[in-house]
Amino acid sequence: MKRKILAVILLLYLLVACAAPSATKAVVRVPTTLRTLAQTHHILLGTAVNMDALQHDAAYASTLAHEFDVVTPENVMKFDAVHPEKDIFTFAKADALVAFAKAHDMQIRGHNLVWYQALPKWIENGSFTRDQLLAIMKDHIFTVVAHYRNQVNIWDVVNEAVTEDGKMQNSIWYRVIGPDYLDWAFRWAHEANPQAHLFYNDYGAEGTNAKSDAIYALVKGMLQRGVPIYGVGLQMHTSILNAPAEQAVIANMQRLAVLGLKVQITEMDVQIQGDTRPMAQRFSVQAHVYSDMLAACLAVKTCEAFVMWGFTDRYTWIPGATKHSDAPLIFDTAYHAKPAYISIIHELKN
Ligand code: G3I
Repeated sequence: MKRKILAVILLLYLLVACAAPSATKAVVRVPTTLRTLAQTHHILLGTAVNMDALQHDAAYASTLAHEFDVVTPENVMKFDAVHPEKDIFTFAKADALVAFAKAHDMQIRGHNLVWYQALPKWIENGSFTRDQLLAIMKDHIFTVVAHYRNQVNIWDVVNEAVTEDGKMQNSIWYRVIGPDYLDWAFRWAHEANPQAHLFYNDYGAEGTNAKSDAIYALVKGMLQRGVPIYGVGLQMHTSILNAPAEQAVIANMQRLAVLGLKVQITEMDVQIQGDTRPMAQRFSVQAHVYSDMLAACLAVKTCEAFVMWGFTDRYTWIPGATKHSDAPLIFDTAYHAKPAYISIIHELKN
């Protein structure tokens, strides 16, 4: 009798065990990509986008969609691209980037509204009174920001208004309107899209130096005047020969945070030219620069985004600007991950 009961119990166990779901749940592996890892730290991870590459290079488009969740138009949203004539606005190329970004659940950094470069001839060669140029700037900002309202909610409102020695850039905006052109630009951008996060964006001011001190004073004054500035973009165009110290970048981010401002690293690339060490060693140093700057962003909770100025050495602005070959980005020209990519992954995993 006892044997029969045991046999029944064993049979019942086997029936239940076979029917039960497996003890180890099916492991759903989330792909290890820059964007999925960055999300665990609640920061955006992005890149500038070269529209020609996006439209003609399939590997570029797929890598972009796979790895990044915020994009900045490298050129197609600048003044000369969208406002080529006084009463003509051309948004087709920028619209294409916005469509791609929305299709891949990416945010967009609008870049940029007011700058002394990338100006169309009718501005550069024009002769305007202060009121005329204010009206032109207002029309540009309202038209562009309104066109992308609810699609672009991060804007580089004013780009590079301060010189290396901490003085105001002698731009047409500064010369004709005066130093208050920045306040007007931010107020109008806010009026055109009250939900947008409005940034002042600049290079060479990531750590603590004369320029970052001047920018600190500039944005502090804007806040005191009630100007709706949300944050400062630290472009981070650097090199293996003169990268800012991680602690200096943290200190600069923290003093801006004390003012109530957020920060984003907005245009990082790391030049390797001008260095005679073997390429492998240069790429290793480059990898440390990328991970050090990412570590600085992760160390300061007001740092919201880590954005590079491109992601493959196949398309970088630097050789054209410096007339020298370079390899400043995290993928090589064949889209193979470089040590810099690996170091960013490791930094995000830690
Ligand atoms: O599209 C025209 C093309 O039709 C023409 O044949 C060609 C030759 O003149 O020029 C092309 O436009 C060039 C454009 O890049 C697109 O390639 C402009 O001349 C050239 O000046 C422009 O350079 C861009 C530069 O900003 C100035 O707008 C770079 O690609 C871009 O990487 C660089 O990005 C800036 C950020 O916006 C601000 N921070 C610094 C960063 C690096 O300078």
